Amino acid sequence: MTNLTGTEQIIEIAYLIATALFILSLKWLSSPTTARRGVFAGELGMLLAIVGTLLHHGIVEYKWILIALVLGTIIGVPLGEVAMTAVPQRTALSHAFGALCVTLVGTAEFYLRTPDVPRFMMGVLSLEVILGSLTFTGSLMAAGKLQEILPQRPITYKGQNIVNLGLLGVAIAVAGMLVAHPEKAQFFPLIVGIPLLFGVMMIIPIGGADMPTVISLLNSYAGLSAAAMGFVLDSKLLIIAGALDGASGLILSVNMSKAMNRSFSNVLFGAFGQEHTAAAGQQEARPVRSATPEEAAAILAAANKVVIVPGYGMAVAQAQHKVRELYDALTKRGVDVKFGIHPVAGRMPGHMNVLLAEADIPYDKLLDMEEINGDFPQTDVALVIGANDVTNPAARTDAASPIFGMPILDVDKARTVMVIKRSMAAGFAGIDNPLYYLSRTLMLFGDARSFVGSIVRELGGGHE
Ligand code: TAP
Repeated sequence: MTNLTGTEQIIEIAYLIATALFILSLKWLSSPTTARRGVFAGELGMLLAIVGTLLHHGIVEYKWILIALVLGTIIGVPLGEVAMTAVPQRTALSHAFGALCVTLVGTAEFYLRTPDVPRFMMGVLSLEVILGSLTFTGSLMAAGKLQEILPQRPITYKGQNIVNLGLLGVAIAVAGMLVAHPEKAQFFPLIVGIPLLFGVMMIIPIGGADMPTVISLLNSYAGLSAAAMGFVLDSKLLIIAGALDGASGLILSVNMSKAMNRSFSNVLFGAFGQEHTAAAGQQEARPVRSATPEEAAAILAAANKVVIVPGYGMAVAQAQHKVRELYDALTKRGVDVKFGIHPVAGRMPGHMNVLLAEADIPYDKLLDMEEINGDFPQTDVALVIGANDVTNPAARTDAASPIFGMPILDVDKARTVMVIKRSMAAGFAGIDNPLYYLSRTLMLFGDARSFVGSIVRELGGGHE
C-alpha cells in the first residue's frame, strides 16, 4: 500500500472491509438468530463497496452515475416492498439487472480494447458475456413464469435438449475462436446474441414450480459472470463478491434439489409437474373425515404435545400471526407446542422460518425435519397448516410417485393428524396425498388464517 495515494488507500481499506462484511453476512445469514445481523452486514458491505468505487480516480464525470443512481433507486424501492411470496421472482429480476449490467460492461470493454485483446482477457470476457447474457434472458423468463405473465407449464418438444446444448456449444466455439483471433470482432455479437436466445430456450421446458431452484442456479451464474468481470476490470472486490455469490447460489440450488430428492438434470430437463397435474385432475373422490373449528379446538386443548407443520398455504393466507395466537393460547394451557419445518416448505428457502420469526415465534420452538421427525410417534396432534407435499407419505412408500424418495415430515406417525386447507386440491407436485384418507386424520377445510382464527377464538385467545 506504500505507493498508493491517500484516496487509493481509503478505497483499498473500504474494499477490504466490504469483503469481510460479505463473508460475515453469509455466515450470519445461515441461522435465524443472526440472520438480521447478516442482512445489515451485507448492506453495509455493499455501501462501502459503492462509496469506494465512487472515489475512484478513473471517474471523470459524475453526471451519468447520478442519473443511474436516481433511476436505480426509483426502480429499487418499490421492488423491495413486494409480498414475501413474490420474493423468488423479485430476486430473479435482480439477477436479470445484474446480468444485463455485466453483459453491457463486457461488451463495452471488448470494443474499447479490440483488436488488441490479450488471450486471457478474451477468455474471461467471453465467459462474462456468455454467462451474463444467458442469465439476463433466463432470469426474465423465470420471473415471468413465476409472476404468471408467461405460461407456467413446461413447454417441451422433441430434440429440445440437443437444440439447447447445440446453441450453447456454438456460443462456446465462437468464444474459443475469438480467444485465438481476438481481431475478428465481427463475431463478437454472436457470443452475446446466442446466449440471449439460449437463456429463453433453457427456461421454456422448466415448470413454473421448479423456478425457485432454477433462480438459485441463475444466481450462481450471475455471480460467476461478475467474478469474470472482476478479472476484466482488475477488481479483487468483484472477483471475491462474484465468487461468493456463485458458490452460495450453487450450494443453495444443490440443497434445494436434495431436499426434494431431485437431481439437477431432473430440475433442468425433467419438465416436472406437467403430467402429474393432469393425473391429479382424474382422481376419484374418496371419503375423508372432516371437523369444525370447535372440534379441532377441543382436541388441541386436550393434547399434551402438539407439533404444528406450516406450509405454502400458511404463507398464501398470511396466517402466521394467527398461528402465533394459537401458539400462545395452547402454551397458556400447558400444551407443549413445537413447529416442524421442512427445508422446502413454501416456495423459497427459509420461507417458513422468516414468516414465523415475523410473528415472533421463539426460534428454539422451530425444529428442522431431522430434529422433529423422532418426536411424531409421541405427539398427540400434528397440526398441518397449508402444507401438503412435505407431509405426503407416498414419498416413503410409493415408488411410482414423482416425489418418491423426498424426505418428508412424518406427521402420519402422530396419534391424531389435523390438516387445514381449503379443499382436496393437490399441492406443488400436483399429486394426491394419502395422509388425508387415514383414519386418524381430520380435514379442517377452510382458509388457514380464518380457520386458525376460529380455533383461537374457541380456545379463548387472540386479540380480536
Ligand atoms: P404444497 O405442497 O404446495 O401445498 C400447499 C397447500 O396449501 C395446497 O395443497 C393448498 O391446498 C394449501 N393452501 C393454499 N392456499 C391456502 C390457504 N389460503 N389456506 C389454507 N391452505 C391453503 O406446499 P408445501 O407442503 O409447503 O410444499 C412445498 C412444495 O413446493 C414442495 O413440493 C417443494 O418441493 C416445492 N418447492 C419448494 C421450494 C422451496 S425452496 N421452499 C422451491 C421449489 C419448490 P388447497 O388449495 O386445498 O387450499
